[in-house]
Amino acid sequence: MSHDVSEILIGSDEIRRAVGRLAAEVDRDLDGRPGLLVGVLKGGAFFLCDLTRAMRSPVAIDFLRVSSYGAGTRSWGNVQVVHDLSVDIAGKDVVLVEDIVDSGATLAHILELLATRKPRTLRICTMLRKNLAGARAVPVDYVGFEIEDRFVVGYGLDFAESYRNLPHVAVLREEKDG
Ligand code: IMP
Ligand code: MG
Repeated sequence: MSHDVSEILIGSDEIRRAVGRLAAEVDRDLDGRPGLLVGVLKGGAFFLCDLTRAMRSPVAIDFLRVSSYGAGTRSWGNVQVVHDLSVDIAGKDVVLVEDIVDSGATLAHILELLATRKPRTLRICTMLRKNLAGARAVPVDYVGFEIEDRFVVGYGLDFAESYRNLPHVAVLREEKDG
């Protein structure tokens, strides 16, 4: 374990089981129809790859990237699309795949944008959701784990672009000593 990562919050076996459960739920709701899974870059890419491999429905994938201004550990609702989808989602069964829903600001913005493009269905799948008081009520269809409001890294989540490749979700140590 890296020296600035303290405790492992969710181990890789637990993640794998959750991925299997979520894949089965998404498959059930797609009910044989092809799904278009849209990963939110960069963090959601890790989860999307595992999720699609565990699914049985026919799937296509695409990605979009948004940036939230402010360099801290929390986005403040100023969300911009910096890389848009490459396919038309009209009439499709879209599943948006996120690594984490924190304030919900990012997701609310993406949902608003995608809804204007008239998908047949638009569902949200996130690996993690923080239990944040005052968070926007965003309708999330599939949640891997509800976690406390602590800054976590791994399984796609970064701190200053590091730690995305950890196979588990860990809490970042705030003090560098100890
Ligand atoms: P929201 O708009 O506040 O829901 O924030 C969503 C984005 O903030 C996520 O897609 C992550 O990129 C980032 N984020 C929120 N919480 C964490 C965390 O605990 N660790 C790493 N990134 C986070
Ligand atoms: Mg980030």
